[in-house]
Amino acid sequence: MKKKALIEVYRQDSKGDEGYFKEYPLVIDDSMSVYDVLWKIRSEVDTSLALPYFRCRKGICASCLMRINGVQRLACRIPVRDALSEDGTIRIAPPKGRPVLKDLVTGWGEHDGV
Ligand code: FES
Repeated sequence: MKKKALIEVYRQDSKGDEGYFKEYPLVIDDSMSVYDVLWKIRSEVDTSLALPYFRCRKGICASCLMRINGVQRLACRIPVRDALSEDGTIRIAPPKGRPVLKDLVTGWGEHDGV
């Protein structure tokens, strides 16, 4: 089912910069995964959004772990309809514990040279 949604995506220009949330109003199919919505934004709305490409999309690699409305979840496994808050928004941020390199692109920790 098509729905209007406001997607709030964490943006950060580079490591150490202050982050902020950018709003993307969209009409989306609510059966899409949160990860697919991010790719829709990246490919159709704002090509400046840094978003890692993950191949598995089956909940196996855990690389797409993100904070979705404040809860750490796998973005490829969460349908938008389950992530939308009552006011039709979704807030997406990088997972806690990983250093942000740019927007939603993160390193893995202190020992990865970032
Ligand atoms: S892309 Fe591998 S778990 Fe989501």
